[in-house]
Amino acid sequence: MKLPEIKILDEKNKLLHQQSKEVTFPLDKETIKLAKDTLKYLKMSQDEKVAEKYNIRAGMGMAFVQLGFLKRIFVIASENDDHTFDEYIVVNPKIISQSEELIYVGEGEGCLSVNREVEGIVPRYARITVQFYDINGNLQTIRVREDLSVAFQHEIDHLNGILFVDKIDKKNPYKNASKMREI
Ligand code: NI
Repeated sequence: MKLPEIKILDEKNKLLHQQSKEVTFPLDKETIKLAKDTLKYLKMSQDEKVAEKYNIRAGMGMAFVQLGFLKRIFVIASENDDHTFDEYIVVNPKIISQSEELIYVGEGEGCLSVNREVEGIVPRYARITVQFYDINGNLQTIRVREDLSVAFQHEIDHLNGILFVDKIDKKNPYKNASKMREI
């Protein structure tokens, strides 16, 4: 399988700090192709051998702004224990409710646009309900939890020009860790 050619912007690029715009339907062919190519890229990146062969980092999600398009679209490829993937193409998402409980990823969050080691924790809701449009323009509602909840919040932040590193307290990177659950 050939790795789709996609170009990922680095955090230094100003686009990554801008608000993405809502998308109208029907989506154009290029947008659909890019979403599908990016999902394929993410799935392949999570295969250690493939990642090594192409010298790429593993990633679970990608927002269109990271590819240079200020559109409120992101994709997520979430691997299950049996090595199948749950795939999401999410358009114009809105968080409609969230848990009180906060969590953080103990080993730290990663981002394919952030090419450096970053220490610290990013507070996230343990569970969120998201309303969004699928690739065909149908309204969907999904409740996500744990790492998938983190991934959705990380990608929704991208649509608002926010990177995970922006959410880490620079003076105290582990601030309030005891008030949250580590995952
Ligand atoms: Ni990211």
